Amino acid sequence: MYAATELEKPITVQTLRKMKADGEKFITVSLYDAPMAAMAQRTGVEALLVGDSLGMTVLGYDSTIPVTMEQMIYHVEAVARGNKKSLIMGDMPFMTYATPEQALVNATRIMQAGAHMVKIEGGAWLAETVKMLTDRGIPVCGHLGLTPQSVHKLGGYRVQGRDEDTAGQLLDDAAQLDEAGADLLVLECVPAALAKRITESVSMPTIGIGAGRDTDAQVLVINDILGLTEQPPKFSKNFLKEAGDIPSALRKYAEDVKSGVFPDDSHTFF
Ligand code: KIV
Repeated sequence: MYAATELEKPITVQTLRKMKADGEKFITVSLYDAPMAAMAQRTGVEALLVGDSLGMTVLGYDSTIPVTMEQMIYHVEAVARGNKKSLIMGDMPFMTYATPEQALVNATRIMQAGAHMVKIEGGAWLAETVKMLTDRGIPVCGHLGLTPQSVHKLGGYRVQGRDEDTAGQLLDDAAQLDEAGADLLVLECVPAALAKRITESVSMPTIGIGAGRDTDAQVLVINDILGLTEQPPKFSKNFLKEAGDIPSALRKYAEDVKSGVFPDDSHTFF
């Protein structure tokens, strides 16, 4: 049985690809500060996402849209100071990657703040941007399904890819990001069967949140793990409740993902 302990070696993009190839799930937590980053790494969390969800979880906005580059840089720097071995992904805020040229300038700033990878939301339209960044040595994580920066276009925080047309579109988007050289792919709020098909069809590892248990990894937001969210989403779980303290909650999350206990059907869309 897997027991969550400190990471032995720094995690790289290659580590995560090998884990996909070996069928070993990896753990990701979206978090925003140095002590939590240090604790996650001590618990063996392979990847830390400094998500722009911080706009809602920390800064009190009602969406991720107001988040700025300065706010992301401040939090990426804090997480980088607390971390030694996990791979750090930094979210690029709304409209900071609207063109490949803008993306290059802003991704450079996120990397210089201490991230090892940037994350951007969107499908095929980002293929040129992914190529531009990865050709220049900046690893990229894509993000498909429910893309919160597009909440007003999507008409709310809803499950995506439920009908044949939108599922086909997501499969095509994933293929184009993979082809363009993306290194990881977050799948948020998509039916489990579609997430499984996408995971099997791309070479890059996939990280699910509300995407069933068949993705290569799982991510949860630290506030949800610790029961700080007033109306927690269906796909999340308050691990603190049963674990009793923060290190034990992180350990329980990691162990439940590695052993396939989390997510179960109650956290999954079909
Ligand atoms: O911003 C964030 O924390 C995210 C995760 C929910 C995937 O994008």
